[in-house]
Amino acid sequence: MARDIKIVGVVGLGTMGAGIVEVFAKAGLQVVAVDGTPELADRGRGFLTRSLDRAVSRGKLEAATRDEIVGRVTFADQLTRLSGADLVIEAVPERMEIKNDIFATLDGIIAEDAILASNTSSLSLTEIAAHTRHPSRVIGMHFFNPAPVLALVEVITTLFTDDELSGAIRSLAERLGKQPVVVSDRAGFVANALLITYLARAIRTYETGHVSREDLDNAGKLGIGLPMGPLTLCDLIGLDVIKEVCDVLYNATHDPAAAPPALLTQMVIAGRLGRKTGRGFYTYEKSGSGVVTDAPEPVAIGAAATSIAVVGAGEVAADLVKRLESTGASVTALDDPTRDTSTLAGVPVVMLTGGPHGGADCGHEGDCTCEEDATGAWFSEIATAIDRTAIVVPTDDQCGWIIAEHLESDTPVVPARLHVATRTGQIAEVASGLDTDPSAVSTVDATLRAAGLTTIVARDRAGLVVDALLYPHLNAAVQMLDSGYASATDIDTAMTAGCGYPKGPFAMIDEIGADEVAAGLARMHGETNEQALAPAPLLIEHAVAAKPFLG
Ligand code: CAA
Repeated sequence: MARDIKIVGVVGLGTMGAGIVEVFAKAGLQVVAVDGTPELADRGRGFLTRSLDRAVSRGKLEAATRDEIVGRVTFADQLTRLSGADLVIEAVPERMEIKNDIFATLDGIIAEDAILASNTSSLSLTEIAAHTRHPSRVIGMHFFNPAPVLALVEVITTLFTDDELSGAIRSLAERLGKQPVVVSDRAGFVANALLITYLARAIRTYETGHVSREDLDNAGKLGIGLPMGPLTLCDLIGLDVIKEVCDVLYNATHDPAAAPPALLTQMVIAGRLGRKTGRGFYTYEKSGSGVVTDAPEPVAIGAAATSIAVVGAGEVAADLVKRLESTGASVTALDDPTRDTSTLAGVPVVMLTGGPHGGADCGHEGDCTCEEDATGAWFSEIATAIDRTAIVVPTDDQCGWIIAEHLESDTPVVPARLHVATRTGQIAEVASGLDTDPSAVSTVDATLRAAGLTTIVARDRAGLVVDALLYPHLNAAVQMLDSGYASATDIDTAMTAGCGYPKGPFAMIDEIGADEVAAGLARMHGETNEQALAPAPLLIEHAVAAKPFLG
């Protein structure tokens, strides 16, 4: 029999609970919203009215509709007010004893056939259910922050759950305009297991001091194309929540990649929980605000070069030449072995992009001829023509480096990585090594900035920052698929609908190429021997078979 869910109870009116109230009330359901004290219930009312008022002031909602939505919600401070609910969803802090207490109390209040749902982001639903009188009516309904905006609802089933209940909750989520993904009970479910380990990696990267806070965020937002940089997202979610999920993931898997970074633990102890306390990785104008008030972390910015050579052929080289010319700099483009390399003499910054591509297949992109035949000779001619004091910038890890290897040992080399544009911008990463002169790094940084690229300066490590964040994240998605927990489509839905990704991990791998991702991971793994960086066997299989994950 199809369930008729008309009255919904929400327990716990923090950020998530209040957002869930808004979602249900907007979908036309009656809501009884309960928190522990009259003050907390009032705070919940305040969250709801502020969110709806904001929508009215932005012209997204009629004032009359706002009043109707608010009119569907009753705020209360007693669980007994939930006696008439068809479904109660709990969104209280992530502590098993609190949840068990609430569920035990609700067991004695709600009707026998009413459903008990938890918005837990990581605790075991099986354990929550097992502590209740009717475990078969307990289910997970996990929303994503901000709940009114993000479409994902993870529906978590346990060994007690029958298909009728999971089907009813799936239909309810669809009625709310959400995208449900039904999965079994595993630490972190789909989205958090992937997202929180990605965020933990970002925090660990920040902890090293190898990259600034803003550059790290730009790597996620502009480099990968995600809606927010990782540290900004940590502040939105709440560092206490992230730590709780890390703890649950680590306890379940003992995977060092999921362990809470020391800095995260310290920030939680210090009460720097993110936006909600007004301070996390950033400082905000007040608690609950998203307006950052502190200045960007200082980076040394030098003067841009006014004379630059770009050696190489292909789209990247052509784009670079165009960008640099638009700054008014004098640009020497050397894209063909027939060109006279003496034009490089006296040029203070020489950028080496892939190619020139002559047709022989060395395995590099674009049929480059690198050291083979005439081009190899041309490469050493270029190396000889470059001034000993010129800053040489290899922009790929293929041909550019082959030229760089022909240089005199004291020529300053500053590797850079030019990324393709995402919907939010375009990144150039500039690597700084132990021997690199900081002024050479800041000249390259300034030159690429002047050319309209957003730069990231980071220590010279495999994957620099963008790939070092993204590739392990993609690898984790492949491991999850290979473990049989969720399909590639469900994983992609979880990350697009739950975290606002423009495309899911498998769509990303298919676009980048499984071979490229596996090779990048292998380089990172070779450098650190970190287990999470070893390319997943299924990724290697796809790379070898040149077979996409989707479609
Ligand atoms: N409540 C209601 N609506 C909100 C909102 C909120 N708290 N925050 C933003 N919005 C609305 C805005 O009103 C705006 O609506 P319109 O387009 O209709 O005007 C829309 O969302 C976009 O907002 P903004 O223009 O202000 O900003 P944006 O484009 O940068 O989007 C964002 C903001 C939706 C938060 C987006 O950056 C995003 O999706 N970020 C990723 C968030 C994410 O990953 N969440 C998952 C966290 S993990 C989790 O929640 C699970 C867990 O258990 C820990």
